Amino acid sequence: MSVLKFPHLFEPLIIGNTVFRNRIFASPQGSSYLDGEQCPTPEVTVYYERKAIGGAATTCMGVRNVDPVSGMNWGDNRVNLRSGHGLSWFRYYTNAISRHGAVPSVELQHSGAFAQQSAMEGHPIYAPVEGDFDGFHALPMTEEQIVSTIDAFIEHAKWAKRCGFGMVTVHGGHGWLLGQFLSPLFNTRTDRWGGSTENRARIVREICKGIHEQVPGLVVELRISGGEGTEDGYGVETGIEIAKSIDGYPDIIHVSVGHATFDEAFTVMTPSMFLPDGVNVKYAAAIKPHIRYSKVGTVGALSDPALMEEIIASGKADIVNMARGLVADPDLPLKARTGNEKDINKCLRCSWCFSHLMNTGQYACAINPEIGREHEYTTEPLKVTHPKKVLVLGGGIAGMQAALTAAKRGHSVTLAEKSGRLGGILLCEADVPFKIHLHEYIENQIRRVGEAGIEVLLNTELTPDQAEEMRPDAIIAAIGADPVTPPIPGVDGANVMHAEYAYTHTDELDGRTVILGGGLVGIELGIYLKNMGRDVAVIEMADKLNCGENRIHEMGVRAELRRNGLETHTSTRALKIGAEGVTCQGPDGEIFFPADHVIIAAGMKGRQREAAAFAQAAPVFYQVGDCLAAKNIYEANRLAFNAAMELGTRW
Ligand SMILES: Cc1cc2nc3c(=O)[nH]c(=O)nc-3n(C[C@H](O)[C@H](O)[C@H](O)COP(=O)(O)O)c2cc1C
Ligand code: SF4
Repeated sequence: MSVLKFPHLFEPLIIGNTVFRNRIFASPQGSSYLDGEQCPTPEVTVYYERKAIGGAATTCMGVRNVDPVSGMNWGDNRVNLRSGHGLSWFRYYTNAISRHGAVPSVELQHSGAFAQQSAMEGHPIYAPVEGDFDGFHALPMTEEQIVSTIDAFIEHAKWAKRCGFGMVTVHGGHGWLLGQFLSPLFNTRTDRWGGSTENRARIVREICKGIHEQVPGLVVELRISGGEGTEDGYGVETGIEIAKSIDGYPDIIHVSVGHATFDEAFTVMTPSMFLPDGVNVKYAAAIKPHIRYSKVGTVGALSDPALMEEIIASGKADIVNMARGLVADPDLPLKARTGNEKDINKCLRCSWCFSHLMNTGQYACAINPEIGREHEYTTEPLKVTHPKKVLVLGGGIAGMQAALTAAKRGHSVTLAEKSGRLGGILLCEADVPFKIHLHEYIENQIRRVGEAGIEVLLNTELTPDQAEEMRPDAIIAAIGADPVTPPIPGVDGANVMHAEYAYTHTDELDGRTVILGGGLVGIELGIYLKNMGRDVAVIEMADKLNCGENRIHEMGVRAELRRNGLETHTSTRALKIGAEGVTCQGPDGEIFFPADHVIIAAGMKGRQREAAAFAQAAPVFYQVGDCLAAKNIYEANRLAFNAAMELGTRW
């Protein structure tokens, strides 16, 4: 008997003396905001703590490198064991996790052949066998070096225990050193560390055994790649053999997939939006029947509690790990447990969080504007001392977030939207399969607006005078952007349309379609149409397609382009559009692209002036979202949330 809708998901798991309160583990995520000694500051602590507050059974601080001299990939964090490194900071960190009932874990890692940072610093780098990797030469590890690397993992596990971690996650996947040892492709040794699966896995067995013997009570999770995800890398059959040969050594075999240093495998490892939910569960499911002693975890593209319940209930895995799902909504476990799963903000798998972390060292999420600022909202935010009458203009992503946050803070909010429905421009992508979670998110926000006591005025495009007459204390303008129409002769022809229109009128696109603009909008639309079986080409005047700043999503896009074979042309500028097609200047001269339909995807121009016209209509004025700078969902939410949080706190 259970009062829970997802009883298997919330069945505690006990390993040794450690209680995991449910089966939802937070997958490793790299840490930023560290102090000069690479210790977690309060800001980094609360990023992980937030997941513990939301009900996850564990949180995992990503990548702590066990070889600070020769083992470092870009941005890896190190531990200075000799100085008793940062004990008080790490104690502060682990206490913050465990006080909410979650088990803090830390990932131990060595980059081996891909220790580029070490190489750049002039240190020799090592791999199972000698070779050139990503432009750097790696030497073969000697027997002594292998043994001392095993010791380094064990010493770091001791350090982790001293710091209060209840679990270590040994990184044996994604192509790093231990993954290189496990891989028949990377490990062609013929001594006792290579030559057979048994031998190749010896290093991880020794590490797990050593930790258990020398650090009793510490739970050992071993992350492996169930398949390498590259053309010549190993597949799931080898993944099964590896798992069999390590069964019982780690407490948990965490079955990830892919390789961190190959683009095509990166977005399998961190599945792009083009892949289905739970795409990698099959690897754990294939491995699990062969495993008798260790528990088995799965990871990748999980955010639906019903799917996760099914995974546990059917025995495909014992544990579901989530990284981005708990960034988009750290309260996912609590919401699922309490039957509020409809309120979960499912991760869009846009990978903005990962790219942003790599690009800027900052935590962020496209749809969760509290990420990176958790420290302000898990304690007391500034009190609203003067509740306001707030008028929000525009019911798109930014407008809805501003209205919701302002209402939650106790302000009286009116939301005016010029069209007949909330949701904004991205509503046009409602039918796109790889945007399903975006659509769900928008629908959720619309529902929340309906439940938040916000006065919604649809079909209402206010003028600045009308807004002023409503006497608001504050106006938040979120009136969006308009599509850019490039001055190409023929652009006003009957066969030409904008991308937004095309998304919602795909039935009109018979024959051949040419999309002008190889930015994200044009490429994604092209992928969508191509997946529908349409004859479509994307033309871009720059010398490469442009996915914006989102490096990881770009990898996913490129993988999808390789898969679906969308025709693209770069360094190609449209000269004129006619009824028969588009004449372009290509790299080799003039070229004609026959087309029945031409879609313009030339970017968006923020309605900056129109929004700024409201600046005098209320004592306080904010301009947020695309009408400030047409960028992305993250920027829209970030500014909208911030404006609404500020309201009424100082005046
Ligand atoms: C921002 C970010 C940082 C990550 N950092 C690490 C890391 O330090 N170590 C690691 O093994 N995996 C890391 N990952 C990969 C995740 O642990 C996880 O395997 C992957 O994102 C797939 O799970 P998901 O679909 O639930 O996000 C990171 C992922 C993200 C999004
Ligand atoms: S930024 Fe995108 S991929 Fe990352 S957690 Fe948020 S919604 Fe998911």
